[in-house]
Amino acid sequence: MEERPIEERLREVEQRAKQCTACHLATTRTQVVFGEGNPRSPLVLVGEGPGEQEDLTGRPFVGRAGALLDRALREAGIGRQHVYICNIIKCRAYTIENGRARNRPPNQEEILACAPWLDAQLTLIQPLVIVCLGGPAASVIIHKNFRIMQERGQWFTSRWAPAAIATLHPAYILRQAGPAFDKAYALLVDDLKAARARVIELKQQQRQQQPMPPPSEEQQLSLF
Ligand code: URA
Ligand code: SF4
Repeated sequence: MEERPIEERLREVEQRAKQCTACHLATTRTQVVFGEGNPRSPLVLVGEGPGEQEDLTGRPFVGRAGALLDRALREAGIGRQHVYICNIIKCRAYTIENGRARNRPPNQEEILACAPWLDAQLTLIQPLVIVCLGGPAASVIIHKNFRIMQERGQWFTSRWAPAAIATLHPAYILRQAGPAFDKAYALLVDDLKAARARVIELKQQQRQQQPMPPPSEEQQLSLF
């Protein structure tokens, strides 16, 4: 068992990731977006990949999708600063259309190239619950041919956590209008609430499984 605290070990992985050139996205990125938050959190959120704002700031979920996620987290009673947030790929994937950069989903080659970073993160953090934001994250974390519309909101196990659930990606929700937006957003909040409840449940189970600590001297004395 490594002795150094996980904060330090995660920082070291981040330093190495910042130099990564394992896929061609290294040539077009501004910054590597490694992930941020509390590495001791029992809850980890995994998104798809950095967008424009994330690429510029180096932080996950800080653009429009991030603002919607923040709102949903608040509504679900989850403090963003208490959880850990990252993505399946660490550099922005985009295409140029009519002279404008347009985000695109990561391809299989990019996901595979980046997987060791995600694996290192999740192996260090050892979350109890992982929330996958969108289909691509669920395909990596839960199972390969995940169908987001049919399988979101259901519980699975993952090689990185005893419980994993997928929900709609905030960027997808932002593309809906009117009642479709409200419905999709409500699902996101519901799934986050379910994740919060699951964390509480699993923590309780963990506590019950821990052996009773030996009685303190004071407790022993009070037995007489
Ligand atoms: N969308 C994602 O999937 N991840 C981010 O970090 C930002 C937007
Ligand atoms: Fe490396 Fe991942 Fe960035 Fe590709 S996307 S260069 S694998 S950090």
